Formats: sequence, C-alpha cells, structure tokens
Amino acid sequence: MRIDVISIFPDYLAPLELSLTGKAMAAGLLDVGIHDLRDWTTDRHRTVDDTPYGGGAGMVMKPEPWAQALTDVAELAGRAELSGSADLAGSSDDTPATTASGTGTAAEAGEKPVLIVPSPAGAPFTQADARRLAGRSHLVFACGRYEGIDQRVIDWAGGDFDVELVSIGDYVLNGGEVAALVIIEAVARLIPGFMGNPESLVEESYEDGLLEYPVYTKPADWRGHQVPDVLLSGNHAAIARWRRDQRLIRTQRTRPDLLAGLPDAALDARDRQV
Ligand code: ADE
Repeated sequence: MRIDVISIFPDYLAPLELSLTGKAMAAGLLDVGIHDLRDWTTDRHRTVDDTPYGGGAGMVMKPEPWAQALTDVAELAGRAELSGSADLAGSSDDTPATTASGTGTAAEAGEKPVLIVPSPAGAPFTQADARRLAGRSHLVFACGRYEGIDQRVIDWAGGDFDVELVSIGDYVLNGGEVAALVIIEAVARLIPGFMGNPESLVEESYEDGLLEYPVYTKPADWRGHQVPDVLLSGNHAAIARWRRDQRLIRTQRTRPDLLAGLPDAALDARDRQV
C-alpha cells in the first residue's frame, strides 16, 4: 500500500516511522510519502491561506497549492519522483511503490487513489472503514489547517480520486494531521502481514460489534487482587463463555448503542441471558 500525506506541518507525521508502521515500511508492506504543501506555492511568502469569502473568523486554505500537490501526488506516487516529498523509511528512491498484494500502484490496479480529508464535518471513522481502506492500494491524506480547505478542491478532486471527508470523533482538533495518524494506524494494522500475530485481530473491539473482554497476566495474585478463577481452570469452553459474557456486559455498560445496533442473529439465546 502507498500512503501520501500532504500537510503544512510534515513533522507531525514523524511518528509513522516508529513501531509497527515503521516496521511495515521497512518490510515493504507500506510505502509512505510525507509532503509539505508549501512546496507547491509560488509566491515569496509560500502562502497557503486567505480570508474567507462571505466574511467570518479565521482563514481558508487556498485551492491552487492543493490542486498542484494532489495532481503531482496522484501522478507520480508510483514512480517515487515526487517533488517536495520526504519518503519515510522503507521506501526507495528508484523502485516503484508496490502494494501488499504486489499489484503495484493504484493506477496499475485500475482504481482511483482514495483522497481522505480529515475534518470534524466528515463521516465518523469506524473499524469497517479501516477494513475497507486496508483493501485499497493508494491513500492520500489532505491535512487541512485553519478553517479548512476551499470546498472547490474537494469537489474538483472527485475526478481523479475517491474522495472521503472523515471525522475521528465529535471534537475539534487544530488540523488533520493527528486524525491522519489515527486513520493510518487503524488501516495499516489490517494490511495482511502487518501484525505479528493476526489472531489478535479476531476478537478485537468493533470487529463484531462487541467490545473486548478484560485480560490478565501473571502473577495470579497481584497486591491481593485475584485473576478470575475460570481463567486458571484450563476449561476452554468455560473460558470462552466467560469471555463472551464479559464482552456482552462491557458493551452493555459502556456502549449500549453498539449492542442495540447488532443484527438479531448476532446474539443467541444464551447471550440474551447475560
Ligand atoms: N480536524 C479537526 N478536527 C477533526 C476531527 N475530529 N476529525 C478529523 N479531522 C479533524
């Protein structure tokens, strides 16, 4: 998978080099380009914003630097020839980006890149979105600042990209960078080969609409607090039942909306006794 991020604060994206995303880059599963939007400005001050039409507080990001940046990123990503790009660890200067499945760039795969515009006005980002995006070969993140990006960029980009306005929660951040980090981590860990132990993905919160069960490790008695007996019993059926009950109880307490949204078939008669 190829991921490009365009921002006026490219340093915000440095954490991508850490931990599992860094390893995925080194392993060639993930190829990441970070770009400074100001490299696509043409004036002496490298201006990226201007006052809003219609008045009001704050500034709006000018359309032309975005159009230039997005055009370059969409056209050149597969050839690693981006001007103004700082490719992170694992990407190489002279070989084309390849996807996890080895199918090459989005263009070679015959699909548009996905343009993700993090915004508090976007659709809520969910685990289902992460899973869907993990199946795409090229994601481009346009990280806006100030009051946002001129809407005409979003409308115009629909020709070359599958455009998605995405919110990571009902609160307002200073810009799209942190949201991009969140989305990238949620997506990247679902790329086949990314997780050391893919089984840990199976019973995760949000994968099947229930939250995770609580977990324990040694010692069995810690400061007078005991691990639940059933987990020490060796009875696998009883452990599985206990874990399922815990998931149901947790979800009911913390996120009753998730439980209410489950299809009827998701819960059996035994589940309904919890
Ligand atoms: N930019 C500012 N706030 C945001 C949010 N909640 N989600 C995504 N992008 C944002």
